[in-house]
Amino acid sequence: MTLCPELRRLAGEHARWLAKIADLGAADATRSAERLLDLWDAEILPHCRGEEDVLLPELARRVSEADAVIVFTLGDHVVLRRLARELRAAAGPARGAVAASLARKLEEHAAFEERTLFPALQETLGCARLAELAAELARRAGSAGPRRAAR
Ligand SMILES: [Fe+2]
Repeated sequence: MTLCPELRRLAGEHARWLAKIADLGAADATRSAERLLDLWDAEILPHCRGEEDVLLPELARRVSEADAVIVFTLGDHVVLRRLARELRAAAGPARGAVAASLARKLEEHAAFEERTLFPALQETLGCARLAELAAELARRAGSAGPRRAAR
């Protein structure tokens, strides 16, 4: 399925994070954990909030809120938040292991969204409605505030 422009934009954000995360491999564990948390605060969390605040409620107007796609997406977001919290709290060698778990979960989550959530959004809402929601999504993504405030 060829994704609508708005969904391609979201998939592009996934690709950008995954490329940045792949580059972190070269940095030392503490620095790489810090950079992953910076990316989480600045881009990943706002992206998840946009999905939760705009796209999933729109989907839930057309399908049940207990639909597996909605429940699975929210569950994944909780796991990502848990891992980000654990990474912030981790010290010493544990940081590297938690950072690796967060990176792995992000990769799995991006693949799930691109294979399952995005096609479901496109089939259910249509590209025209998704285009109408683009400005609202961008506002949500831009309203995360500075990094410290998002902690
Ligand atoms: Fe997501």
